[in-house]
Amino acid sequence: MTTTLDTTFTEPAPSALLLLGQGRDMASERGVECAGELPAPSDPDLVERARAARQALGDRAFVLGHHYQRDEVIDFADVTGDSFKLAREAAARPEAEYIVFCGVHFMAESADILTSDEQQVILPDMAAGCSMADMAEINQVEEAWDVLTDAGVADRTVPVTYMNSTAAIKAFTGRHGGTVCTSSNAEVALRWAFEKSGGVDGTGKVLFMPDQHLGRNTAVEKLGMSLDDCVVFDPRKPDGGLTREQLDAARMILWRGHCSVHGRFSVRNVEQVREAVPGVTVMVHPECTNEVVGAADLVGSTEFIIKALDAAEPGSSWAIGTELNLVRRLANAHPDKSIHYLDSTVCFCSTMNRIDLPHLVWALESLVAGRVVNQIVVDADDAHWARVALDQMLALPGL
Ligand code: 13P
Ligand code: SF4
Repeated sequence: MTTTLDTTFTEPAPSALLLLGQGRDMASERGVECAGELPAPSDPDLVERARAARQALGDRAFVLGHHYQRDEVIDFADVTGDSFKLAREAAARPEAEYIVFCGVHFMAESADILTSDEQQVILPDMAAGCSMADMAEINQVEEAWDVLTDAGVADRTVPVTYMNSTAAIKAFTGRHGGTVCTSSNAEVALRWAFEKSGGVDGTGKVLFMPDQHLGRNTAVEKLGMSLDDCVVFDPRKPDGGLTREQLDAARMILWRGHCSVHGRFSVRNVEQVREAVPGVTVMVHPECTNEVVGAADLVGSTEFIIKALDAAEPGSSWAIGTELNLVRRLANAHPDKSIHYLDSTVCFCSTMNRIDLPHLVWALESLVAGRVVNQIVVDADDAHWARVALDQMLALPGL
């Protein structure tokens, strides 16, 4: 039996997964209540209300929008970007009293760390967490470090944490001389960390958290390591499920975490799109598995994907493996190119999607009324050490 792939870009049903209401139990999410009266999603004046509130706030507010946000939210962003660009943008706006972060919790935490005490960072919906960031908890990371210490390898190991991690883990990384990285600078960050721990060809090691795929893809595809140089530390197993010998031999100690959106793309998706669309270029985010990255033509962060499509020839065909809001926007922005979603069954990032127009209107109107809602505050000690790790990232060579 042959399978046919529908390669036309189809508009998915407007997120049945999303719960706009209040007081729902989102067990694994960070917040369950909207602390106030949320405008009804059906309110026909929502756009006008957002516009009016935005105008009333003027330069007192700066609205950041991650590329995975909904169109209705991106329309009100003063700047859009990937997590690295948004961290830089937040740090570069000392004059803004309020940073309204349309993204997810760990990004807003980083913005709070990088801005002054006088500035307040607001996340319009506290339930906008990240399932990958939730896969590493600080107590698990502390325990993992104890395992590395007992195995005699901690003093040769530099921790590198992906931006998609809690402020507490960034602080751990700062305390232990490591750095934060994002998908657009992971290669530079790893080279720096290996240099510090004994050279890329030496005896040094990196503990990479929490995305095993970004860590593995960068080590193997960019630094030329082998898959055997990588081991996976599983925080739910005694000693991470690794022997002393395995830890001693490893170069990359990868945390057992992944993105539930990017982890769904498969090699079969790549094969199917190649069969269905002759000449297609397959481009994926480095949070995809190493098999998918190996089967693709190009791999890169959201900013990389956007730039590659901007530079692409009219008439060229592309299949993109990243979150759907971004791919849909890119397809609309490039009508002269044929842009396909790599897997037609993969949905939006449900936590990114929690920020919708009603939450944005609620947050902005509250600020206009003098009420700061959903403020993200990182405690002072964590903020200090997380800033050390974030500043290290911002100082990496060539960025
Ligand atoms: P970027 O670093 O490309 O912005 O990606 C963040 C993210 O959450 C990807 O899933
Ligand atoms: Fe987290 Fe994945 Fe969503 Fe990015 S796409 S915010 S990594 S769950």
